[in-house]
Amino acid sequence: VSALGGRRLIFVTGKGGVGKSAVTAALARCAAADGRKVLVVEMAAHGAMEPLLGVKGPMGHEPREVAPGLWACNLDPERSVGDAVAGLVPTPRLARALLGNPVARLFLRTAPAVSETAVHLCLVAWLNAGYSPVIVDLPATGHAVGFLDASRAMAHALRVGRVAKAVSEAADVVRDPKQTGLVVVTLPEELPVNEAIDLYGRAQTQLGIVPAVVVVNRVTAPPVPEADLPKLEPLLGTSLEDLAPDARAVVGAVRAGVKAHALDGRQVARLREALPDARLLSLPTLHGQADEAALVVRLAERLRDLLGGQRAVPT
Ligand SMILES: Nc1ncnc2c1ncn2[C@@H]1O[C@H](COP(=O)(O)OP(=O)(O)OP(=O)(O)O)[C@@H](O)[C@H]1O
Ligand SMILES: [Mg+2]
Repeated sequence: VSALGGRRLIFVTGKGGVGKSAVTAALARCAAADGRKVLVVEMAAHGAMEPLLGVKGPMGHEPREVAPGLWACNLDPERSVGDAVAGLVPTPRLARALLGNPVARLFLRTAPAVSETAVHLCLVAWLNAGYSPVIVDLPATGHAVGFLDASRAMAHALRVGRVAKAVSEAADVVRDPKQTGLVVVTLPEELPVNEAIDLYGRAQTQLGIVPAVVVVNRVTAPPVPEADLPKLEPLLGTSLEDLAPDARAVVGAVRAGVKAHALDGRQVARLREALPDARLLSLPTLHGQADEAALVVRLAERLRDLLGGQRAVPT
């Protein structure tokens, strides 16, 4: 996907419920259509990705091919910690002892930096296994920046040794703006826009990563083509009472559409003003889709049009 500039590790983030998972799935479909070996990573106990990708049954921790060129999994952080310990401590016996010790296990499971670092190691292992891009649907914790910084902080704390070296190698990938891209998703609404602006700024100042794109999802399409909106003006000025009863409902609906479109446009303008250098992509609210997978296929088509890509999106 050209907007991602060939980056191979993509994190999709934004406020809860804005459409992160739908956008992740749509980006993945675009990238798979470009002939890449795409891996979608969800990190949620109760995943929402299966219906979006049209997958039957729950996904597990191990990647599975769900469409040509498209793999998906639900990353289990606890499993990543186990794999990281097994891969990093010198002997299997020590690993078993560590993972068998309830106190150690509790620490490994609950210390956020440990778990997040293990997730980074896991993602980098998947990159090394040949998946590219790996597209991660981040949970809506509002801690995206802290999450992305975890392995660097951990490497810094560990300083020397085998584990420090492995962690610092993972941090080098996750914190490398040439390899890692951030996609910020928002709705054209006050609070999600504020959060997107804040996140965009902090990604730059705290991580040195300029988000690749800001996706404004669920923008109300105008009731008539944008260019024809001025033609509606006379209609919008007339009082509804002056109209025949049949016409009132229609004109009322058109007015509501014009108003919603204008309000959304104001939020998009606010984003543009706050983030003049950002690449904004607007996606419309798509009504009447047969199911979530169909929605994603349509969103992927939209993205491809916006990005000027040529390839077809597989259905
Ligand atoms: N452009 C769109 N048009 C119509 N429906 C959409 C659109 N984008 C998302 N949706 C729907 O909105 C709902 C929420 O989307 P999604 O699950 O992707 O949000 P999310 O940000 O991942 O939420 P969460 O924070 O809970 O993970 C879903 O039912 C999805 O199908
Ligand atoms: Mg989600």
